[in-house]
Amino acid sequence: MTIILGLESSCDETAAALVTGEREILSHKLAGQEEAHRPYGGVVPEIAARAHVEVMTPLVAAALDEAKIELDRVDAIAATAGPGLIGGVMVGLMTGKALALAADKPLIAVNHLEGHALSPRLTDPDLEFPYLLLLVSGGHCQILRVEGVGTYRRLATTIDDAAGEAFDKTAKALGLGFPGGPAVERAAKDGDPKAVPLPRPLTGSREPHFSFSGLKAAVLRAQQSGDYAAEDIAASLQAAVIDCLIDRLEMQLEAHPDIETLVIAGGVAANNALRERLAALGEQAGVRLVAPPPWLCTDN
Ligand code: KG4
Ligand code: ZN
Repeated sequence: MTIILGLESSCDETAAALVTGEREILSHKLAGQEEAHRPYGGVVPEIAARAHVEVMTPLVAAALDEAKIELDRVDAIAATAGPGLIGGVMVGLMTGKALALAADKPLIAVNHLEGHALSPRLTDPDLEFPYLLLLVSGGHCQILRVEGVGTYRRLATTIDDAAGEAFDKTAKALGLGFPGGPAVERAAKDGDPKAVPLPRPLTGSREPHFSFSGLKAAVLRAQQSGDYAAEDIAASLQAAVIDCLIDRLEMQLEAHPDIETLVIAGGVAANNALRERLAALGEQAGVRLVAPPPWLCTDN
């Protein structure tokens, strides 16, 4: 049985896990850094990198411990090699390189987005290629056609901000706290999604891409006007972002009639309102929706 030790440190989550060639997760240790970044209302790269340094080796030890596996028994060491915050990426990658060198194991450099694209296969054994992937995080907003391991076609991407950034900047503007996405979702529960007339950038466009920077500006104007409650702005922003995501996905599902499965990944995939709309879209388009558990959608 092949066993891989995987390390991740590309943003504000440090993680170490042991996974088998049969896609079984033997152990998974994750440390967040929310408290360290909260005073700044966003992830501070320098603080993130230093926090990774502190917890990475204890997490590796804990992951090996939990799986009752010695480093010698591991067949290879994998680490996220980017894209991500460079200081953090270097911590995980250099830890991986050092372990690989010391234990005489191969090192596998993993593309961060490829990790998101393939990790849904860990909890859904029936997930077969090809599938359409909506990857929505704090740094990315893409639609990919996943043909197989190592074969991806990027069909759409954002021309400015990521979807998660729209949530994070809205939370900051409204003083809802950090991290922004869950705070906006909570506030939106008590708000009216139709209260604030926000744009739906690029929807209906023949260009397949996303744009969220105009939405961010519109949210700021609504907040500064003093005409709207924070809950209403949050609900309206959430509805606008989801409308954009659904519109662009509809376009791709039409263009790719052979696709039978739609997968979501990235931190924004934890959003329940989005999950509900995607479930409805899946039913309408006759495709199966694979929404991994939120802990597997984020950096891990
Ligand atoms: O994938 P991820 O953990 O990290 C990277 O950006 O790579 O994604 C984090 C993003 C943040 O922008 C966060 O605000 C957003 O995911 N997010 C959410 C929710 N939970 C996390 N956005 C909307 N609703 C949520 N419930
Ligand atoms: Zn990520």
